[in-house]
Amino acid sequence: MPQQSGYDFVVVANRLAVDRVTTEDGGTGWRRSPGGLVTALAPIMAQSDGAWVGWHGAADEPLEAFDHQGMHLVPVPLSEQEVEDYYEGFSNATLWPLYHDVIARPAFHRHWFEAYRRVNRRFAEAAADVAAQGATVWVQDYQLQLVPAMLRELRPDVKIGFFNHIPFPPPGLFSQLPWRHSVLRGLLGADLIGFQRESDARNFQRVVRHRLGYYIKSDQVFVPLDAPGPGEDASVNGLHADPARGTAPRQLTAPTEGGFRVAEAKAFPISIDTDKIVELSERPDIIARSQQIRRELGEPDTIFLGVDRLDYTKGIRHRLKAYEELLRDGKLTVGEACLVQVASPSREGVASYQRLREDIEGAVGRINGEYDTLAHTAIRYLHHSYPVEEMVALYLAADVMLVTALRDGMNLVAKEYVAARKSGQGVLVLSEFTGAADQLRQALLINPHDVDELKAAIVKAATIDPEDARRRMRSLRRQVVSNNVQRWAEEFLDRLAAQP
Ligand code: F6P
Repeated sequence: MPQQSGYDFVVVANRLAVDRVTTEDGGTGWRRSPGGLVTALAPIMAQSDGAWVGWHGAADEPLEAFDHQGMHLVPVPLSEQEVEDYYEGFSNATLWPLYHDVIARPAFHRHWFEAYRRVNRRFAEAAADVAAQGATVWVQDYQLQLVPAMLRELRPDVKIGFFNHIPFPPPGLFSQLPWRHSVLRGLLGADLIGFQRESDARNFQRVVRHRLGYYIKSDQVFVPLDAPGPGEDASVNGLHADPARGTAPRQLTAPTEGGFRVAEAKAFPISIDTDKIVELSERPDIIARSQQIRRELGEPDTIFLGVDRLDYTKGIRHRLKAYEELLRDGKLTVGEACLVQVASPSREGVASYQRLREDIEGAVGRINGEYDTLAHTAIRYLHHSYPVEEMVALYLAADVMLVTALRDGMNLVAKEYVAARKSGQGVLVLSEFTGAADQLRQALLINPHDVDELKAAIVKAATIDPEDARRRMRSLRRQVVSNNVQRWAEEFLDRLAAQP
């Protein structure tokens, strides 16, 4: 590994690409994280002297850099206070709700933003330390939006990409953020800024035009070379660059002379490791496990499945309400129908997530108390995370997948379900407020706020003409098979390499 000269390809993400595991002899080891992003980037890392900079998940624990399966891992330490202020606070109680249509109310605290700025600088410095001359650095997601500009200041020689995995909100919502200028300038430090949906890229471009007055043409943002860095904010430093308040010169006409650099802002919808899901769905032990699941649930006619992190953006409450009303109306009957809801534990230190858990578990208990029989349950609720093998067995067991998110950057579960359904059977009910809805047009698309529409879609999914279901699933599969996460990474990195 090139310790002296640095690494040619550096990924910077809030989480490191490995999870800590307990080894057989009771010691600790590391296992590559199972997510699609790591799967897609690992081969590129191995080919090109790759390093991954990220937090290793524990507070107040310094850790030396180490190598693991062809990847150089650079842990970024966080104190307990920083986990509270940067991760649980600014990232997940300010940005997360703000970027997801204010489904929950975002909290704005100056000391949270100060921690966010400090931690972003630490990530930028760690990346600057390991990147080789002229390296490509790819920064991931909303926790690290200041990193591109900070890194550019430290290392003007490197090529910087940024990808936002969650939605980018419309200007009216984004503008609530007291540190909006810092965030925009942070992102504009990148050469290429990727978003999930066209609408996210448009939202970003509109707010850049409106707030900073930068000229934009064909996704190219012309950033003045003397633009302030992310350390300076109009609301703190005296309104120096807020055209919306009429205090800065407008730059909305095409620049005619130098003094600019170009940052491109454009959509690159992410996908899944399709081959891996298909391969697992064909494995005899996983097929046998899916049959066992159906038997254990009492061989219902229709198994509905929901798989989500336990997050208020996922519309789990809306799903339960529709299902409960269908049981009440006699349109579904326990024994003939069963809803399996996997809700994996998430962000348990954040108050809104704690309240959500109480709400969901209260609703499940109430519905099951009302409708269960001694032999059958209405909802099998599982507050666990499962390995991908078990997830694929669940996908194979489920007749209908319910994805009812109120807002979701992409929703990879929808794509995984489709990838697993090689038989062509199975129905996907999909919220139009997910990024996946832009591509999976043959799903039963619903507005999860419209409970009657959701109920009608659930009934349609349970009673659909098998030929209609197969036709839809074939078309969905074509989409997911031809656009996998490897292709997504390639397209982003090719575009980044082509930036001047
Ligand atoms: O979708 C955004 C995201 O940050 C993912 O990158 C991540 O897998 C998921 O949410 C879980 O987030 P956390 O790292 O907060 O557990």
